[in-house]
Amino acid sequence: MLKRIFYITLAVFIGLQFIPAKIENPQTDSSLEIKAPEKVMAVFKRSCYDCHSNEVNIPWYQSIAPASFMVKNHVDLGRQWLNFSVWENYTEKEKDKKLKGIFRTVYAAMPLASYLSMHEEAKLTKDEIQMIRDWTGKAPY
Ligand code: HEC
Repeated sequence: MLKRIFYITLAVFIGLQFIPAKIENPQTDSSLEIKAPEKVMAVFKRSCYDCHSNEVNIPWYQSIAPASFMVKNHVDLGRQWLNFSVWENYTEKEKDKKLKGIFRTVYAAMPLASYLSMHEEAKLTKDEIQMIRDWTGKAPY
């Protein structure tokens, strides 16, 4: 009986691997990328780019289903809301809204908690949060 459950589980796990969940990093003109002081960019790249850019970095264990479904969902949704790689394609109104969103979300909501549990290095320090908030408050947009 146990053996049977094991084999069924194994079969389901293997089957899941065939469901496509690949994340693409579309080629993007670098002139469209958001422009910010180096320190601000470093934080965005370290803590936000894995979901909000076209330069997503996927460790091997996150390419394995079912984790890959969650990662793909985060990246698809994350890019939909805010994609730093195509910032210059946004209208002034959209940029303004997104900067306000960044100001608000870096306080606690972003990066996502589930992501931080796997990426300790993405956690923002108090100083970094303040720096991002200062910058989004007076960014030239
Ligand atoms: C693990 C993936 C992931 C990371 C890393 C991440 N985000 Fe997000 N972000 C999302 C997803 C998914 C959404 C879509 C809305 C939701 O699910 O909350 C989102 C939505 C947003 C929004 C729009 C939502 C709103 O309420 O305005 C902003 C702004 C945002 N993220 C900023 C950031 C910033 C800034 C960072 C880095 C400090 C970051 N995110 C890191 C996944 C991520």
